[in-house]
Amino acid sequence: MYKGFFKLKENPFNVNPDPRYLYLTKEIEEALTGLMYGIQTRKGFITLTGEVGTGKTTLVNRLLDWLHGKGARTAFLFNSRMNSSQLFDFILAEFEIPCESKSKSQQLMKLNQWLLDRYRSGETVVLIIDEAQNLTYPVMEEIRLLTNLETSTDKLLQIVLSGQPELEDKLRLPQLRQLRQRIMLRCRTAPFSKEQTHEYIAERLRIAGADSQPIFSKEAMDAVYLYSLGIPRVVNLLCEHSLVNAYVEQQRPILKKIVEDVAHEFQLDEVDPVNPASNVSVDVFNSESFVQNLGEALSRFRMEPPGTPTRRR
Ligand SMILES: Nc1ncnc2c1ncn2[C@@H]1O[C@H](COP(=O)(O)OP(=O)(O)OP(=O)(O)O)[C@@H](O)[C@H]1O
Ligand SMILES: [Mg+2]
Repeated sequence: MYKGFFKLKENPFNVNPDPRYLYLTKEIEEALTGLMYGIQTRKGFITLTGEVGTGKTTLVNRLLDWLHGKGARTAFLFNSRMNSSQLFDFILAEFEIPCESKSKSQQLMKLNQWLLDRYRSGETVVLIIDEAQNLTYPVMEEIRLLTNLETSTDKLLQIVLSGQPELEDKLRLPQLRQLRQRIMLRCRTAPFSKEQTHEYIAERLRIAGADSQPIFSKEAMDAVYLYSLGIPRVVNLLCEHSLVNAYVEQQRPILKKIVEDVAHEFQLDEVDPVNPASNVSVDVFNSESFVQNLGEALSRFRMEPPGTPTRRR
């Protein structure tokens, strides 16, 4: 509804992880390059971790676009609440490997044969599991078995596990040490700095068709950083609602007060005050008050879990 008022072609702060809107910070570029390098050099097993809402799924979508451009075969599982037998069913279905049998050993043999064929024809095969912090130990154990599919020189299947920091905690547990030892590369996403938050807002507005006249005042963007701590999903939430409220008040550029009111509405102002000029410690994101306040707000903006556990890409 505000698009006409702000002369925008589309909604700039959509919560979908749309790779068109990917804003590359040095950190994100490093993570993306790491993922591409790890896959190209057949490292076998890579993790991508980062705080909730910091762009893991967005990055994975960009990675998938790149992989498809290269003709790689991919399976993307984004509902990690599955048991071991479902894991194999999903993988075979995603790669379109026909297999009548439901027996795990038969399925593994079929997969191995198919992977060898792909390897011989020079194709890269990648399995990406998002939200991997939810995987159970038995499923993690199966993933370890998958990392054993190899020739004498190369891994046949490249596996990327993407998830929140709990994934790293899980992988530190003694019962998962065998899997942990197989991680060849660890990539990370991180919240934006204040400058990056400003650039991110400007970049999304630009992609959505904004002209050169400012939409957010500098003070308003400072406030967005203060209340979001640079977490892109929260930045989107604050900006989207600020656009709506500013439209109602016919205000352009948007002033700080509008952002403060939105932050208050979503109880983001109950987080311990942070000096916006200082470097925010990672501990802040783990503090109970921060997580509690954000949890509520974020849950309204999480994407609904899809009906089916896999999505064909
Ligand atoms: N680098 C980025 N460039 C553009 N948009 C981003 C970026 N990082 C995050 N976003 C936006 O922030 C929102 C959250 O991103 P995303 O869903 O990728 O986070 P996530 O780390 O996967 O979160 P979760 O831990 O809840 O799975 C999305 O709306 C996405 O568009
Ligand atoms: Mg995600």
